[in-house]
Amino acid sequence: MKHSITVTRPDDWHLHLRDGAMLQAVLPETARTFGRAIIMPNLVPPVVTASQAQAYRDRILAALPKEMSFTPLMTLYLTEETDPNDVAQAYETGLIKAVKLYPAGATTNSASGVRNFENVRPVLEKMAEIGLPLCIHGEVTTHEVDIFDREAVFIETVLDPLRQSLPELRVVMEHITTKDGVDYAHTGGDTLAATITTHHLIINRNHILVGGIKPHYYCLPVAKRETHRLALRKAATSGDPRFFLGTDSAPHLDGDKLSACGCAGCFTATNTMPLLAHVFEEENALANLEAFTSKNGPAFYRLPENTDTITLRKSDTQTNFPEKIETENGPVTVFDPGFPVFWTAD
Ligand code: DOR
Ligand code: ZN
Repeated sequence: MKHSITVTRPDDWHLHLRDGAMLQAVLPETARTFGRAIIMPNLVPPVVTASQAQAYRDRILAALPKEMSFTPLMTLYLTEETDPNDVAQAYETGLIKAVKLYPAGATTNSASGVRNFENVRPVLEKMAEIGLPLCIHGEVTTHEVDIFDREAVFIETVLDPLRQSLPELRVVMEHITTKDGVDYAHTGGDTLAATITTHHLIINRNHILVGGIKPHYYCLPVAKRETHRLALRKAATSGDPRFFLGTDSAPHLDGDKLSACGCAGCFTATNTMPLLAHVFEEENALANLEAFTSKNGPAFYRLPENTDTITLRKSDTQTNFPEKIETENGPVTVFDPGFPVFWTAD
């Protein structure tokens, strides 16, 4: 059994930092361990234009503790009004690294997302031409479709037709939660990749619902049945360059989670790397952890890997992660894997 492993400093290819007091509280949790992160634009109002992305980037850097170094990789929120030239310019100046597509109504603050995909066609064509990745929240929002089927139906009815009609478009299937997602990612060439969260490697839908409802395990896409979790584990730990870490760490105040209509999101920024070391060790795949967290993402995004390292250590005593992170407006609960973890990251 290995007791420590040193890896290239990881990046998080899907992160929610929010704004204001929440940003201030959660940013150090990521910056302590990760070199860079793809920053989700679903603020209220959303980050739609290049100038909004620039201002948000400045707010993130202003909130960063002086002793930490961290690079936010900005994204724009795709709407039916998005101007292809604004997007292209934001990419060419280096400001943004991706555009995020939320089907309208799919998740937190997605009301300004896309209803009719024909209306964003000019933006997507421009992105295909310049090689700018599209990060997709892959769920249909049709009321008739069962929430557990929404990812698979999206792949079949939206994603595959889109990729067939625009094969040069570079696509990241964000936070895949199904074997269908894993299988579809395998069919793509170098224009297709998929991120996988920490929590979807750990929980299935039973964890949310058996023995009482667990609001802190509720996220979107919702965790599926065990066969899907196992498929995700196999993909994440395989070393396959198509799969890399996007935590989707999504902080909400406890009051907003523990509610009659609780928000979706698991907050994993604090303990992701120790949890992943635990998972990869269980899968006998510690040797592939670095590919998943530190190498496959930069390769897809055509960025250099980080030049420094972190070390994960396993001890005989259980690691005590904080249960909550305090913000000015109340606490945020840190994801509890439900089993003891013996790994730390430094
Ligand atoms: O669980 C989630 N929370 N999934 C998402 O897609 C959005 C995120 C959030 O912003 O809270
Ligand atoms: Zn997200």
